[in-house]
Amino acid sequence: MRALVTGGAGYIGSHLVLALLEAGHQVVVVDDLSNGHLEALRRVEELAGRPCSLIVGDVADRPKMVSALHGVDVVLHLAAFKAVGESMTNPERYFRNNTGGLASLLESMVDAGVSRLIYSSTAAVYGEGSLMPLTEQTPPGPDSPYGASKLLGEQMLQWMCRCRDLRAVSLRYFNPVGAHPSGRIGEHARTPSNLVPRVLMALTGDVPALTVFGADYDTPDGTCLRDYIHIQDLVAAHMVAIGLLERPGYHLYNVGTGRPSSVREVLDAARRVTGRAVPFVDGPRRAGDVPETVADPSRFRQDLGFEAKRDLDEMVRDAWRWWTQNPGGYPE
Ligand code: WQD
Repeated sequence: MRALVTGGAGYIGSHLVLALLEAGHQVVVVDDLSNGHLEALRRVEELAGRPCSLIVGDVADRPKMVSALHGVDVVLHLAAFKAVGESMTNPERYFRNNTGGLASLLESMVDAGVSRLIYSSTAAVYGEGSLMPLTEQTPPGPDSPYGASKLLGEQMLQWMCRCRDLRAVSLRYFNPVGAHPSGRIGEHARTPSNLVPRVLMALTGDVPALTVFGADYDTPDGTCLRDYIHIQDLVAAHMVAIGLLERPGYHLYNVGTGRPSSVREVLDAARRVTGRAVPFVDGPRRAGDVPETVADPSRFRQDLGFEAKRDLDEMVRDAWRWWTQNPGGYPE
């Protein structure tokens, strides 16, 4: 099978490209390298012992995409902006890139005769006040332009599957964390804002201390609860979802563990795994945070037998290995 992965030089994309190569598939990556890293793909090829193709460009570049899509069996669309806070100050950039980019990609797919798509969606389509755990039937109500841009993408895909012969699966990611166990690839955000990368930076002294954004929430220990899922489990979910594309129509799955962890529990896991206490200070709540986000993963388990296997300690252990073996991430 020939797979095209948009955003394949990014954190999730690079781990997915590795799994596809290891499964024997041919892989074409389209990435504008605004967030992705060439070094990540070089290491992916090294780990897989096989090459992948890279086309540097924007998914909205119609001629380039129609050419890239030649002979492709399935598209995995991960290229997107994903910073909730940034989307609040620059919503038009998120709708242009995330929603507009998907619309353009769909046009290119129609032109190229490619009709199978896996779409990277997000738990950010849900809003504050949604009842936990979150199922695929929980009414969405995004609290940010980022979440809205992704929800609009889901709705576009539903129409494309209804009006064209497109077959699509939307995967709503919860909180991806961790790294490939080799320690050769991992998360390298140029401006890290997520919890686990910031914990690692506090542990290695890249920042003096982690700021815990709020310890006064109505949760067992006062800090926010999230559904962290190991990147390798998230990648496994994509490999399972590809099999779904044999069936016509549109499919939607929440991809989480169903096991929430608080910020304090992540700090405890980091101490267990590294033997070091994470230096932290309690700070004010972060705008836009909700007290709890946790998936009900039962539909994916019932339909396809998928279940995330790795626990929080393994997530932190693999993230720590990546960060200590690659201080500062990938060389530019
Ligand atoms: C997790 C918890 C913070 C940093 C975001 C996106 C989501 C998805 C994953 C794309 C929160 C707390 C964090 C820090 C802290 N991305 N925290 N100190 O916000 O749940 O989800 O990333 O799909 O769409 O919204 O993840 O890791 O930023 O925060 O206390 O320095 O850690 O308040 O409670 P989040 P996060």
